[in-house]
Amino acid sequence: MKTALRCAVLAFCLLAVQALPAQQRTVGDGVFTQDQADAGKLVHESVCQICHDLRSYRDSLRLWDGQPLLRLWESIVGTMPADSPGSLLLEEYTDVIAYILHEQGFPTGEAPLDPDAGMDQISIVQP
Ligand code: HEC
Repeated sequence: MKTALRCAVLAFCLLAVQALPAQQRTVGDGVFTQDQADAGKLVHESVCQICHDLRSYRDSLRLWDGQPLLRLWESIVGTMPADSPGSLLLEEYTDVIAYILHEQGFPTGEAPLDPDAGMDQISIVQP
């Protein structure tokens, strides 16, 4: 009985420990790879840079503070480039977000950013 209880408590704690970081991740936790940022730089230079300088994203990120990164991704896919919304590959949008975050000083990590996997659990924070 005692052992069972101890197991139950341990299982609960393990679950809690695993669940917490997933929910509390932010763009500062290494959520994109260097490769993505590098690929995003090329996309940015060829498509976005005509209308945006990198500094303007600082203000955008401020407006998006605390929101899930997936919402920003969806917004950019739906509205950018302003003269041809949705014209890039979804992967290119993801890469360009990685590049924007990288240029704001956020660190790279091991796992690639993926709109189908956990991007709704990553919150935007201030650079
Ligand atoms: C033809 C010009 C043009 C191009 C090309 C363009 N944008 Fe924009 N972008 C705009 C304009 C204009 C706004 C302001 C629109 C608004 O806020 O309603 C904007 C707003 C934004 C915002 C702020 C949106 C928000 O909700 O805070 C982001 C982020 C953004 N663009 C990213 C990009 C990215 C990434 C690319 C390249 C894939 C891109 N833009 C290409 C003109 C452009």
